[in-house]
Amino acid sequence: MLNHFPLIVFFSGLVILLEAEAQPPKSSNETEIDHKVTELLSRMSMEEKVGQMSQVAIDVILKDNSSTQLDPQKLRKAIIEKKVGSILNVKGGAYTLDEWHNILSQIQELATKETPNSIPVLYGIDAIHGSNYIRGGTLFPHNIGMAATRNLDLAGETAHITALETRASGIRWNFDPVLGMGREPLWSRFEETFGEDVYLTSKMGAKMISAYEKDNLNKIDAVASCMKHFIGYSVPGSGKDRTPSYIPERQLREIFLPPFQAAVEAGTSTVMINSGEVNGVPVHASSYFLKTILREELGFEGLAVSDWEDIKRLHTRHKIAATLKEAVKIAVNAGVDMSMIPYDYSFYDYLVELVKEGEVDIARIDEAVGRILKLKIELGLFENAFPEKNSQDNFGEKKYTQVAKQAALESITLLKNESDVLPLSVNKKLLIAGPCANSLPALHGSWSFTWQGDDASRYPESTQTVVEAFENTYGRSNIISRSHSDFDHNDNYDTQGLLEDAALVDAIVLCLGENAYAESPGGIDDLTLDDRQLELAKAAEKTGKPIVLILLQGRPRVIASIEEKMDAILYGYRPGSQGASALVEVVTGRFNPAGRLPFTYPRATGDVLLYDHKFSETISEDIPNLFGKDAYRPQWTFGHGLSYSTFNYSDLKLNKEFIQSENDTIRASVKVTNAGKVGGHHTVELYLRDQYASVTPSNKKLKRFKKIYLEPNATEEVTFSLTKKDLSFVGLNNEWVTEPGEFEVLIADLSSTFNYQE
Ligand code: BGC
Repeated sequence: MLNHFPLIVFFSGLVILLEAEAQPPKSSNETEIDHKVTELLSRMSMEEKVGQMSQVAIDVILKDNSSTQLDPQKLRKAIIEKKVGSILNVKGGAYTLDEWHNILSQIQELATKETPNSIPVLYGIDAIHGSNYIRGGTLFPHNIGMAATRNLDLAGETAHITALETRASGIRWNFDPVLGMGREPLWSRFEETFGEDVYLTSKMGAKMISAYEKDNLNKIDAVASCMKHFIGYSVPGSGKDRTPSYIPERQLREIFLPPFQAAVEAGTSTVMINSGEVNGVPVHASSYFLKTILREELGFEGLAVSDWEDIKRLHTRHKIAATLKEAVKIAVNAGVDMSMIPYDYSFYDYLVELVKEGEVDIARIDEAVGRILKLKIELGLFENAFPEKNSQDNFGEKKYTQVAKQAALESITLLKNESDVLPLSVNKKLLIAGPCANSLPALHGSWSFTWQGDDASRYPESTQTVVEAFENTYGRSNIISRSHSDFDHNDNYDTQGLLEDAALVDAIVLCLGENAYAESPGGIDDLTLDDRQLELAKAAEKTGKPIVLILLQGRPRVIASIEEKMDAILYGYRPGSQGASALVEVVTGRFNPAGRLPFTYPRATGDVLLYDHKFSETISEDIPNLFGKDAYRPQWTFGHGLSYSTFNYSDLKLNKEFIQSENDTIRASVKVTNAGKVGGHHTVELYLRDQYASVTPSNKKLKRFKKIYLEPNATEEVTFSLTKKDLSFVGLNNEWVTEPGEFEVLIADLSSTFNYQE
């Protein structure tokens, strides 16, 4: 919910949030909520308050050996004795709607009827790419694929459906979206990001948040969102999950903070903290990050929840607290409002002691609990804590499948199409090979009915694998495949079998990539695709048949050793439940691909240079003092993505030569023509290059994009407006500045310059 509108003033580039004077008066509803919070706080015991700050996993209230049956004794211990305010997660995997209703009803029954102040429990879940923890829930492409669609409205639609289905289960808090920048492709959560670009991530994240929360959390089409993981989680120095990041202040402000700022402006209700440490300080222990930046600079007023077990880890992993109790003191005093403990009540016990000992001020407790209660009120939990009857009608509607299909279609990115080998007509005979060909986990990735997403038996019967989707379209007799549903099965790497089968077909569709994985278990030491898969591709090369490579993977795995011999390459990301049929539609040409890479695809594992690199990073000096400008040589750059049509650009025009004042705008217009034979979607991207600046400027930065549709021979003029703010960067004093000088607008292969004057 957007609770306040801090006035943002750019003063010498410094963003100042004028909280006091600039805030608009509170609405009567907000005042009413504040009164209710104050009144509740005045009635609550200290122990009740501390309980509200505790979040436990469902495991602690389940019967032993059951994943859905609550144990009444354990439930009483949690709700009555330890007074927990929040519960999360599933055990094992997705529950049915009925199981969710049953679980939530029992929890709320006890919380609202037998606690002193009848405070309902706030249940939280990870619905990361659709309602992935509800059986039969709709699963969309992961964020990395959504970013490739460049379609904000479509991203909004997927989030809206996720909100409807999540709320239908009775859950009103979704730990999404991930706003970490995907700038370290080794990182196992890369697929959860919107890629490497700050503008694209900010726009996508903000759109999803608005769609999750709508304009009223108390309605059955909304859930509270959670911007995560604040901040700097996504670029661990080692590439491994939950390991330290080192981020210079300037980059932190220019690249990592803006998506969170956009999320706050979009009205996100909650934030989850980065499990890792940034520059030697665990974020859970940092009042600089959690107060100075999050609260004072970004103006965030909502609830800050820890990540999994992360307060304990200040002691067990980060070694900044000598005891678990000290860890609690450090985190709460730094600004964490709720602890995802999650398997015991140690947080509650220690915090009660710490308050009694005067180590944590009751005012800090009231602040944290005030935020929790406010959210519970806004979500309508005090009026009706139980799963809402009407909300269930919103689950599993047919039209959601169409949205999932459209999202998958628009995400698929055509990286290469030598001699127009694609599309492949439907009367061809095909060999479908590789470990991803019959794998549902490879299509879905992490957080898909289970945390790891790798249990094929959990997927609905109706979900098609790539092989099945090809059989449906080309006919069973025209498809040959030995691919096995188990990713690691030997049949998937049978080079001899491939050579034999290839003799019988017109073309080979090779499905390579990654099995599903989530978080730390997905760690890798090498970006290069594994040898067994590369061997398969090399065997395919030998057949002389046209090869269409389909990549289903959460991060770009290096394929330079086989790329040249592949005739066409499609990047599918983690396209979700409709991914297989979407891929077939692209292969047949029924859908003209339009996805654009949201990251730079590296050519070598040791050469991960992103598109917004510095000029000096393009310099190669292989022979001393003789240098070229070819050191930036990715396999494919950010924004790359082909079509079955050709889009020509002309007439790039700027409406003026200078911009001067704060509100001055400059308009760039360009004509785009579909010179191909088929209609197609196409994203027009505008990049800006600051020619000279006091801090070395980036090669270019994405500033605007617009997705259009053009029939053959049609032309559209696309116009973008830029203001002074778009020219700014974080300068020598680590504050936002716009410096006078020349800027270059780049759209496709056209460019034009203008000046900024003070
Ligand atoms: C992840 C979070 C997630 C939480 C709760 C953690 O391991 O880092 O992204 O929200 O678990 O499931």
